[in-house]
Amino acid sequence: MASMRGGMMMIGAALLLCLSGGALAEDPYLFFEWNVTYGTIAPLGIPQQGILINGQFPGPKINCTSNNNIVVNVFNHLDEPFLLTWSGIQHRKNSWQDGTLGTMCPIMPGTNFTYQFQVKDQIGSFFYFPTTALHRAAGGMGMLQVHSRNLIPVPFDTPVDEFALLIGDWYNKGHKTLRKILDSGHTIRRPDGIQINGNSGKVGDSTAQPLFTMEPGKTYRYRVCNVGLRTSVNFRLQGHTLKLVEMEGSHTVQNVYDSLDIHVGQCMSVLVTADQAPKDYYLVVSSRFFKKVMSSVAVIHYTNGKGPASPELPPPPPENSAGIAWSINQFRSFRWNLTASAARPNPQGSYHYGNINITRTIKLVNSHYLVDGKLRFGINGVSHVDGETPVKLAEHFGVSNKVFSYDLVKDEPPQAQGDKVVLAPSVVNATFRNFVEIIFENQEKTIQTWSLDGYSFFAVGIEPGSWSPEKRKNYNVLDAVSRHTIQVYPNSWAAVLTTLDNAGMWNLRSEMRERAYLGQQLYFSVVSPARSLRDEYNMPTTQQLCGIVQGLPMPPPYTI
Ligand SMILES: *[C@@H]1O[C@H](CO)[C@@H](O)[C@H](O)[C@H]1NC(C)=O
Ligand SMILES: *[C@@H]1O[C@H](CO)[C@@H](O)[C@H](O)[C@H]1NC(C)=O
Ligand SMILES: *[C@@H]1O[C@H](CO)[C@@H](O)[C@H](O)[C@H]1NC(C)=O
Ligand SMILES: *[C@@H]1O[C@H](CO)[C@@H](O)[C@H](O)[C@H]1NC(C)=O
Ligand SMILES: *[C@@H]1O[C@H](CO)[C@@H](O)[C@H](O)[C@H]1NC(C)=O
Ligand SMILES: *[C@@H]1O[C@H](CO)[C@@H](O)[C@H](O)[C@H]1NC(C)=O
Repeated sequence: MASMRGGMMMIGAALLLCLSGGALAEDPYLFFEWNVTYGTIAPLGIPQQGILINGQFPGPKINCTSNNNIVVNVFNHLDEPFLLTWSGIQHRKNSWQDGTLGTMCPIMPGTNFTYQFQVKDQIGSFFYFPTTALHRAAGGMGMLQVHSRNLIPVPFDTPVDEFALLIGDWYNKGHKTLRKILDSGHTIRRPDGIQINGNSGKVGDSTAQPLFTMEPGKTYRYRVCNVGLRTSVNFRLQGHTLKLVEMEGSHTVQNVYDSLDIHVGQCMSVLVTADQAPKDYYLVVSSRFFKKVMSSVAVIHYTNGKGPASPELPPPPPENSAGIAWSINQFRSFRWNLTASAARPNPQGSYHYGNINITRTIKLVNSHYLVDGKLRFGINGVSHVDGETPVKLAEHFGVSNKVFSYDLVKDEPPQAQGDKVVLAPSVVNATFRNFVEIIFENQEKTIQTWSLDGYSFFAVGIEPGSWSPEKRKNYNVLDAVSRHTIQVYPNSWAAVLTTLDNAGMWNLRSEMRERAYLGQQLYFSVVSPARSLRDEYNMPTTQQLCGIVQGLPMPPPYTI
């Protein structure tokens, strides 16, 4: 097969599959071949070793449609094991391909592995990134966008074009140096600056190339993800407003904003209309909740543009406690559009999550610890450690007792936690199809972001202070956005609701990469008692085996 630009091959015509009732068109396949290599990048102007995919940083965009089958053959040309995750892609019945170290063996240097998964019943903006060894500090990430199928109504006119914007903080040290700092027990501290699609522009730089070009009068979709390691950012476009239309797979009520906060790991889509005088404009991305604001700009050009962007930048939102109040208010303005469809024809609002009884409440408190003088992070007194054997494979082969103990993390944080922490693989036994409430309580002084694989959840509430059951009456039980990440402000809590109806082993992690690397994550083991193919796919025959499951007899396959 000939390789097309970007290493993508596509079978245009759908394969036909004959079933007893007649012929069904199988969902189309998109094939990608990715070479992962080191290469020199300079997001903040200082050359350093980066991680490229097919020579690109950010990596190639995956542009697909709901229910497409995605096949990515990843060749690891690095000198370290490597693994990619597809953040926000739910992998229905298929945690085998989730790309976290609890579900898969890493791709060893000099070898390749082919991911295969379906973007089943999803639309929206997501990104992929490496889960191994702080590799995200060096690149390896890219946009993954899922379009609605034809005939499923989209609640806005088709934009003339779509722009992918991967923004976030950046460290000049490189991932190996940063990892040494963490391994020696220290924090990587504050980042060196802000990058915008691999660059960082300064106001008044007359040599800057435009990042995007818009035709006057036309409307564009900007898909924006914060791919940084720890910093919440705010983005805004001089002279233009941002109409929010989508957030991590949900169509939102289309409010118009001057600027938007986006926290680490989050994605959203805004529509921008080129309705201003034809000249250049600065897109501004600035850090949030740091004493000293860091920012970068990129030039947005009009096709008929004459003249440079004005040096007067739109102001950032307030900082300190006023800034947090501003940001919480903005969070509360994000609403699910109940009448709009997402990936299926029925309106999003036909799922009345507010009427479902909560079957389990799990309250998770993040903390940091010193263990033998070294920094660790944890959840409810447990700091996760990835072992040689992915916990999913240990469970599947029936040897979990040799690899981990279930439920070290309890549904309530321990009283008077102090500095006590357990270092071990952290797996919570969850009951298939339970409707759970997860409370994230942040008693630390820095903002947190959490991300859950395998599901989206309803982000029903964020408030300052401590959570208690009475707070439930403040939840948004009508039109909270269904998404897969949530920020938690300092000394605040956030509550999310979800149905654990996707069997598999699913990572819940801090999106702050140093925290996840030093243990602030866990896995939900969601086992279908039926052991049925209706609930979970069989382990792919191509699955790599490692650790103690190598050479063990294959467990019996699931049946219908
Ligand atoms: C990947 O690298 C190999 C050589 O190692 C080359 O043959 C192939 O064309 C590359 N593929 C892409 C998509 O760049
Ligand atoms: C992306 O996918 C959509 C829908 O499948 C298609 O209309 C569009 O042309 C694609 N864009 C690119 C750049 O491939
Ligand atoms: C590695 O790549 C080769 C060549 O494309 C392919 O035939 C093979 O299936 C791949 N191996 C894995 C484990 O994906
Ligand atoms: C919600 O979606 C509908 C499409 O069903 C659209 O007509 C409407 O404008 C959207 N409402 C808001 C407030 O964004
Ligand atoms: C929820 O719980 C209430 C009280 O325990 C009960 O009356 C109601 O039937 C339950 N609703 C559902 C949908 O199970
Ligand atoms: C997990 O919980 C279920 C009940 O929800 C129970 O049947 C099962 O034995 C538990 N599994 C483990 C390994 O504790």
